[in-house]
Amino acid sequence: MPETNNSLPMHIAVIMDGNGRWAAARSLPRSAGHREGAKAVRRTLEAARDMGIKYLTLYAFSTENWTRPQEEIHTLMQLLERTLDEYQKSAQKEDYRILISGERSRLPAGTLAKMDALVRSTAQNKGLTVNLALNYGARQEITRAVNQILKEGLAEVTPQDIARRLYQPEIPDPELIIRTSGEERLSNFLLWQAAYSEFYFTPVLWPDFNKEELQKAVDAYRARKRRFGGI
Ligand code: FPP
Repeated sequence: MPETNNSLPMHIAVIMDGNGRWAAARSLPRSAGHREGAKAVRRTLEAARDMGIKYLTLYAFSTENWTRPQEEIHTLMQLLERTLDEYQKSAQKEDYRILISGERSRLPAGTLAKMDALVRSTAQNKGLTVNLALNYGARQEITRAVNQILKEGLAEVTPQDIARRLYQPEIPDPELIIRTSGEERLSNFLLWQAAYSEFYFTPVLWPDFNKEELQKAVDAYRARKRRFGGI
């Protein structure tokens, strides 16, 4: 049997779930849950960087989130823009490199401009790479890659051909995917990249997530046996 000697994951991906339930439990509006969620994002970036994690992908807004009430979408976009502004000020000092994965269509022009500026101004940073999945859907990502291949006229396709055309081809696949709030599904997140990922589900709601919870997830990952289809 292989030893349980996994090293630190290079890439962790997180489905940040439970903002609404966190707020409901306190009789607060859902927007309050999202605001606390944004604070948990900040804590998690710091914790991941301090632990030596190289890549952190966060599912911030899915292609399916557009079906939420207009008011909630507005709150999330506002919060996102505010967060982008804040990171524009602090990312250099914190040594974060920001990347964005997802479709640009439907995102407000102001949000797109802030995203682009932040990606550009942090491109040289060497610390934690933060990949924000924004208007992201894995089926859309794979379909987009296949459509590019069709346009290029390839006659036959290898897995590498697809992988090279995903949003962030240079980021290694996540070794660990965390989902908070007790839900245990992938919800159209990183379907291609998750082929060999370890999953960690916790009942903790996203606004309560912190350094200790991240450490628990990493410890659980390190105790797993990874076989990649071998024995
Ligand atoms: C899930 O909670 C969370 C989201 C819809 C997206 C995550 C958004 C944030 C953490 C806020 C800010 C993010 C950034 C990057 C600034 P939910 O509303 O689905 O919770 P529920 O399932 O309890 O209703």
